[in-house]
Amino acid sequence: MKLIYIGAGFVGACSAAVSAASGHQVLVYNRGEDKVKKLNSGDRDTIESCLFEKGLGDLLVNNKERINFTADYAEVGIFLDDCDAVFMCLPTPEIGETGESDLSFYFDAAGKLAEAMKKRNNGEQTKHIVIVNKSTVPIDMVDKTQEIMEKIGVKNFGVASNPEFLVEGKAIENSLKPDRVVVGAWKEEDFSVMRKIYQRFYDSPTVQYIEANPKEAAAGKLLANFYLFNKLAICFDVIGRTCESFADLRFENLRKILISDPRIGTWGLYDSVYAGGSCFIKDARSLSHQLQTAGQEAILVNETYLANRRQLEVFIGRAEKDAGFDWTGKKVALLGLAFKRDTNDIRNSPSLDIVNFLSQKQVKEIRMYDPAAMENFKNEFPESEVLKYFKNGEETIENADVIIIASDWPQFRGLADILLDNFKIKPLIMDGRRIFQHRYEDMQKAGFNVIAVGSPFVKNVI
Ligand SMILES: NC(=O)c1ccc[n+]([C@@H]2O[C@H](COP(=O)([O-])OP(=O)(O)OC[C@H]3O[C@@H](n4cnc5c(N)ncnc54)[C@H](O)[C@@H]3O)[C@@H](O)[C@H]2O)c1
Repeated sequence: MKLIYIGAGFVGACSAAVSAASGHQVLVYNRGEDKVKKLNSGDRDTIESCLFEKGLGDLLVNNKERINFTADYAEVGIFLDDCDAVFMCLPTPEIGETGESDLSFYFDAAGKLAEAMKKRNNGEQTKHIVIVNKSTVPIDMVDKTQEIMEKIGVKNFGVASNPEFLVEGKAIENSLKPDRVVVGAWKEEDFSVMRKIYQRFYDSPTVQYIEANPKEAAAGKLLANFYLFNKLAICFDVIGRTCESFADLRFENLRKILISDPRIGTWGLYDSVYAGGSCFIKDARSLSHQLQTAGQEAILVNETYLANRRQLEVFIGRAEKDAGFDWTGKKVALLGLAFKRDTNDIRNSPSLDIVNFLSQKQVKEIRMYDPAAMENFKNEFPESEVLKYFKNGEETIENADVIIIASDWPQFRGLADILLDNFKIKPLIMDGRRIFQHRYEDMQKAGFNVIAVGSPFVKNVI
């Protein structure tokens, strides 16, 4: 099959790479030469320097003859002549704090695509093409896509919805071995094209290949994300808060009791300072906006969003409230700038809010480290007298008055030993990921004050 992907972000680049690995001929269009050059470089490190996803570099290098990235729309025009499907992988961020999706990237791309599609096959438009919404879009987006195409005079096309369920950091693994593929379409002709594209998954006994209509597929994505987000909010705001409020409740033991019930399941039962990233918050806000536009109150959806915000505020507020810590003039070590481990994505990372909070508190120094996301973070917060970046966790925590752990990179775990073995002056530990949970008691005995999500304040016993 011949496939076009529009938008070479986490979703576009990763699913295009997997399509090339499935044997399809793939063209990926993205605005901006720089990213395209890197993705086309044929060099794993160069590729992963602009899109840090495990396995992406190798997949692109190994399938180079079947995938090409371009910023030149003329190439899209030529490719459209015998193309089977165009995957729309554009960003759909929230407009301000309205909940409404900013569809301007999508509309720009769809308008341009419509103009080019009208000219295909010398204007005769003989080849049937499926336009596939892979972006997470509002439930009625399929109608809008249809309208844009018809208004410009595009013929012989279908609109489908094929929402993406990948998890950043495991995007390639998830796309090569998905647990499900969801395809929404109105016409058998479009289902049939999609089945051929996903033949390897359609035939696989381990993949659920689900066909629905395009609105059900789009709604399914929003609802699945909300369900997961709500699970996290329950973990933070109810289970974690319970463990923080009563002595002798260990979060890990409560977790064991809860997950022993298969109806509860294991996913999401890790306490954390915040659920960040580009999807959960945005998609819950979009669901709420769509429900309210339809006349519903969306109370639980809104409360889930607020519970997540509350988690970050409660955590950072505990330094003053629980430990009587005065931030003014202090040196703060902040570990973890990506919104979670295994990614360089800083969208909705808790560290963005933490740095803004610390700046208002007139701290002396914010010492920061992340194994993958420092370059992205520097774009938001350039190095300065106050903001300093370090090469590793050990250097970052040197001489700090307080250490905040904001993302769950496993390499931070070993810092507990370094603190216990080498630190004469004991910084306040703020563990937003329970990464030192195996050493909390030792830390307490050694003279550290520890504030951890899911634990009451652990005051040193010295
Ligand atoms: N990142 C995830 O984990 C994830 C998972 C599932 C679904 N999604 C959804 O997929 C969509 C894309 O997300 P993403 O994380 O890949 O976004 P992204 O921001 O990483 O990538 C989007 C890409 O589109 C490009 N772009 C913007 N406007 C363009 C235009 N008019 N023409 C061509 N290229 C253009 C940008 O330069 C960027 O490279 C969103 O709707 C998101 O909600 C994301």
